[in-house]
Amino acid sequence: MNQSPSTLIFHAAPAGPVNGDITIPGDKSISHRSIMFASLAEGTSHIRGFLPGQDCLATMNAFKAMGVEIHGPDENNSVVVHGVGMHGLKAPEQAMDVGNSGTSIRLLSGILAGQAFASEMIGDESLNKRPMMRVVNPLQKMGASISAEEDGTPPLKVAGKSTLTAIDYPLPMASAQVKSCVLLAGMYAQGTTVVTEPGITRDHTERMLNAFGYPVTVEGNKVSLNGGGKLTACDITVPGDISSATFFIIAGLIAEQGTLTLRNVGMNPTRIGVLNIVRKMGANIDVVNARLAGDEPVADLIVYASELKGCDIDDADVPLAIDEFPAIFIAAACAKGITRLRNAEELRVKESDRIQAMADGLKILGIDCTVYDDGIDITGGQLTTGTVDSQHDHRIAMAFAISSLRSSGTIHILDCDNVATSFPVFVDLANDVGLNITQELVNE
Ligand code: S3P
Repeated sequence: MNQSPSTLIFHAAPAGPVNGDITIPGDKSISHRSIMFASLAEGTSHIRGFLPGQDCLATMNAFKAMGVEIHGPDENNSVVVHGVGMHGLKAPEQAMDVGNSGTSIRLLSGILAGQAFASEMIGDESLNKRPMMRVVNPLQKMGASISAEEDGTPPLKVAGKSTLTAIDYPLPMASAQVKSCVLLAGMYAQGTTVVTEPGITRDHTERMLNAFGYPVTVEGNKVSLNGGGKLTACDITVPGDISSATFFIIAGLIAEQGTLTLRNVGMNPTRIGVLNIVRKMGANIDVVNARLAGDEPVADLIVYASELKGCDIDDADVPLAIDEFPAIFIAAACAKGITRLRNAEELRVKESDRIQAMADGLKILGIDCTVYDDGIDITGGQLTTGTVDSQHDHRIAMAFAISSLRSSGTIHILDCDNVATSFPVFVDLANDVGLNITQELVNE
């Protein structure tokens, strides 16, 4: 029997206080990379704390389709990968579907460019609108036969059999995905590949390649590696995802009262822009128990309900908080005064146009905002009630869900299925700490 397609709606009712002690699930960026590098390594790698979200499972399925034996994730989110070495991948039998995942398609394109076989990657409705020339251009410069659709979107097709040559590439935008793509292709290229960043972006690729024994040199904003090296299996502990933690950081801050402890949050300096921003807004957060999880710093956060005030967000914090803006916009809506963001045009090419999607929803909920090409001004006020569209974007859905802590009535959020791409247990954890979110599956 054919099932009619269904869609998930969140009904987020006013709630609070927010109290509790929760552990944040594994980091998405690090989980993707752990599968990729463990697959290309010689030997067996054990990954602990893997994020079983749809995006990371898409990466895992792609490597399985290329002949890598991978077990897990088990009930403890542990994964075992039997690496096949730099040249051990096999041609996949069909196009690899990476779903909603920009990280999968962009990082994999660098790896696939270096393979002897042809391949194709396809994605969902949202991914099919996202710009891919940012990876196609540098890979073609390296000699890869890779192409996107005429408008620069997926599917991506790689002809294989290319001989790659190293490049010295100034990144046109601050993007860890493009940086990583070029570095991964650089492992298969002759010579030294150099990437120069216009602004510091997350450095998980650099850290993890070093952990797998592949030397990467970082000098200021220049990252380089020599082609022709190899990866050696190792054990990876994935820290909690600060991007997922952000929904709880903001929830804890905007709640009328309460204290929320978040355990095991990744504190990589290239990811903590959200803490800089909310502290500038007057947030009261303690960072305790700072320690290392493998090559990544982690800590526990204690978040206290705080009176927030609007602020001008520093340009330097934009790439360091790039995934956190939907939630930060909710903090701005609950703050006294105006919060201004500029130089954030990259937000327009995420899983949705996050500037417009958030502005549309905030306006429905009675919040005054002015949209700019590269940013937004948000004036804090009273959130009301209404129906907002997440535009299939997991982070828009979760941001509006936490906004119910300060709304005068229930907020209905459409198209929430994609929350499962990055944070499958979001609703359960949110309700555990005092939110009041119900989920409804409806036929489209
Ligand atoms: C990511 C980099 C960022 C981020 C994405 C994950 C990564 O994208 O938005 O969620 O894992 O490298 P850009 O590189 O496009 O900024």
